[in-house]
Amino acid sequence: MANCVLVTGGAGFVGSHSVVELVAAGYSVVALDNLVNASMESMKRVEAITGKVIPAYTVDLLDKEALRDLFKKHKFTSVIHFAGLKAVGESCELPLLYYKTNVGGTMNLLEVMKENNLKNLIFSSSATVYGTPQYLPLDEKHPVGGCTNPYGKTKFFIEEILRDLSTSDPTWNIVLLRYFNPVGAHKSGTIGEDPQGPPNNLMPYIAQTAVGKRKELSVYGSDYDTPDGTGVRDYIHVVDLALGHVAAQKKLEENCGCKLYNLGTGNGLSVLDMVKAFEKASGKKVPHKICPRRPGDVGSCYANAELAEKELGWKATRGLDEMCEDLWRWQSQNPNGFKS
Ligand code: NAD
Ligand code: UD1
Repeated sequence: MANCVLVTGGAGFVGSHSVVELVAAGYSVVALDNLVNASMESMKRVEAITGKVIPAYTVDLLDKEALRDLFKKHKFTSVIHFAGLKAVGESCELPLLYYKTNVGGTMNLLEVMKENNLKNLIFSSSATVYGTPQYLPLDEKHPVGGCTNPYGKTKFFIEEILRDLSTSDPTWNIVLLRYFNPVGAHKSGTIGEDPQGPPNNLMPYIAQTAVGKRKELSVYGSDYDTPDGTGVRDYIHVVDLALGHVAAQKKLEENCGCKLYNLGTGNGLSVLDMVKAFEKASGKKVPHKICPRRPGDVGSCYANAELAEKELGWKATRGLDEMCEDLWRWQSQNPNGFKS
């Protein structure tokens, strides 16, 4: 049977880039999204990039009947599950919404998959499940669960649910992917991250400052135990991350059981490293000021990415300059995101 992958959250940032790479790898893809943080314009642009028609449905994972109908329309061979809410601050204000959407939405998806005897799943987890690092780089054996916010806890709880499911029925094939910090955009400059309102994350904020939409970047803390005192993270090009999903999809096809991989580069870069690299790529100044630390932030967080290389044959290859150039192309060509 030809492979048909259901991509939940397909219109979003990581989802849309992953659909492009899945189609390029020869998979047939169906996308669903409730459009709470995306627009169907991204799917139209994915179709333009790939030259393929991609069925895309406006479906909410909390609507189980709509999910059931979708499973009647298409015969899926696996699911890549990106759909969910991801704003840390909002999750502290609206914990019930986050548990309902992320945990409840995943439960509906798993139940409908089970009803259809479909047991192949890739799940978007996050490095946030590691909490405050006890050692660096973070490998997959690092203790988890010390998350300080409801968003991070939903990722941890879903991982636990998926492990329990796999233990109860080892015929499930599940790949848990812990992403570090996805940035950049597709080379075409036609799809990218499109935050609604002021961005919470560093790179979209830098890009919007360079394009003149924001006055200046607040650098949250310059007194961390890092080379220049600012926070260090493992930024990974979103196309590398998308290719990690293609590699994970191939792993599922080997009937792999339950597997877990970090998707990062293994390199830590500081806030000021990112500002400098973006200024170089864009030729624009990024005005910034040093501010107090952001509550809940850790000083450094970066991956040991060796397991994914060993078992998935996957490695991030796109460097910092490419991340910044590609993000700048997307931001400068689409100053208002998908609305422009
Ligand atoms: P995104 O917000 O761009 O994509 C998520 C998509 O899910 C959105 O298009 C949204 O409209 C959709 N969605 C939300 N609730 C839904 C529901 N109830 N039913 C159907 N669709 C729904 O986010 P992203 O950056 O592409 O992240 C994708 C996944 O990766 C998320 O699960 C996120 O938590 C996880 N993740 C992201 C990052 C990151 O920094 N971007 C890091 C680690 C993990
Ligand atoms: C964010 C999420 C985390 C998620 C991770 C991976 C938050 C609080 N946490 O964390 O749950 O798993 O992405 O994608 O959103 N910074 C500034 N100024 C800004 C924004 C950020 O100085 O305006 C700094 C931060 O202090 C940090 C670095 O930039 O040192 C990266 O921040 P951000 O992009 O928000 O990512 P994470 O903190 O890693």
